[in-house]
Amino acid sequence: MKGLPFIFIIFCLLSACKDDDIPESDPCVSLSDIVYAPTIKEITLPNRYQPIQQPLDNEMTDEGVLLGRHLFFDPILSADSTMSCGSCHAVGGNFTDNKATSTGIDGINGKRSAMPLVDLIYVEKGLFWDGRVSTLEDQALLPIEDPIELHDTWENVEAKLQRSEMYPAMFRKAFGINENCDISKDLASKAIAQFERSLITMGNSKFDRVLNGGDTFFTESEYRGSLFFFDRDDDGTFVPDAQCAHCHGGPLFTDNTFRNNGLTFFTDETAMNISDRGRFDVSNDPDHIGHFRVPTLRNIEFSAPYMHDGRFNTLEEVMDHYICGIQQSPTLDVLIINHCDPEDPVEFLNEQAKEDIIAFMKTLSDTTFFNNPEYQSPF
Ligand code: HEC
Ligand code: HEC
Repeated sequence: MKGLPFIFIIFCLLSACKDDDIPESDPCVSLSDIVYAPTIKEITLPNRYQPIQQPLDNEMTDEGVLLGRHLFFDPILSADSTMSCGSCHAVGGNFTDNKATSTGIDGINGKRSAMPLVDLIYVEKGLFWDGRVSTLEDQALLPIEDPIELHDTWENVEAKLQRSEMYPAMFRKAFGINENCDISKDLASKAIAQFERSLITMGNSKFDRVLNGGDTFFTESEYRGSLFFFDRDDDGTFVPDAQCAHCHGGPLFTDNTFRNNGLTFFTDETAMNISDRGRFDVSNDPDHIGHFRVPTLRNIEFSAPYMHDGRFNTLEEVMDHYICGIQQSPTLDVLIINHCDPEDPVEFLNEQAKEDIIAFMKTLSDTTFFNNPEYQSPF
């Protein structure tokens, strides 16, 4: 041990080392010889989708989306390099982990189910089940430091990215930074947000193809399911309304609102004690206790288990809930009622109706969405 400083001095004398020759003391490397000429990303939207809006200071570019895809799937974002965003938002699970609630790097479970990342560019009234974050840029900052998710610090992640072989050039190409030290959490979150905005379903589901008057037709059961779902009586025969499309409507199969669909029983007196008060924790409005975001049903077949706490394992269980499992509460949506009284033919949904609605929901499946080569992990 005693010999070490002496050896160091000898070594320094021999190699004439001064402080600024030690790489750690000046880690900034210029990137100006790498060309910065980003290409605006071209997005083709399916029929009936509204034009997309992007933040003016973070428009999607090919280079930005590519960088975002790398960051999204790279465990470099977690403290022990074991998990990435893609661990909980896995491509084959429609960008979920197919678990009731998600577990972070320390093995701690959150109270909510990972959300599918589908058509996020259209989310209007806030992200998460309770809408507590408004932009994808702000959202992407959170999982890194969340103790039950990636549990790192941004300072540390920035340092890891700056030191990496690959990332400085990618940040240069996406954002025109001058040196590796310019890599920041804000730019990283912008890139991740760009990748997430690019996750748009492409109108290849059976539902879209039928609507586009194309190459395929609904089965009888799927067709009847659509009548229940959209409250239609097209061929003159009466079909009870299942009311689904009032909330899960439009091309995105969500109206982007927050509602109480009857999962939890409570009264005015017990309202504050329920385990997850949802939207109330953001708005502080007692009318919002038990309200959660209406999720899209596109690709719903692949993102089980269902609801904000993953309480239902199958679409059959979801339908049992909507048909006969509604829990009363003061904030229950007026559209949500039980449909299980055979004496009430106007509302009654029988076993066949249940099967039909499930068959219809499965017409919203589109594996070409998550099998898109541009969405796969680059690692
Ligand atoms: C440990 C699992 C886990 C990890 C890791 C994780 N997420 Fe999530 N994600 C969740 C859960 C759970 C929710 C729902 C949380 C809630 O509503 O409170 C969620 C919600 C989201 C949403 C909201 C989607 C919507 O429709 O509102 C986005 C966007 C998102 N995550 C992106 C990311 C990104 C980007 C990363 C990596 C930086 C990431 N997630 C890492 C579990 C995870
Ligand atoms: C009043 C609005 C409303 C109506 C009507 C409605 N839903 Fe929902 N639905 C919601 C809300 C809100 C959630 C999320 C609830 C939660 O997790 O707390 C949801 C969740 C779901 C989910 C789970 C989605 C996921 O990602 O976990 C499915 C499937 C679903 N609904 C199908 C249907 C079907 C089928 C119908 C018609 C029988 C229907 N819904 C009627 C509001 C509604």
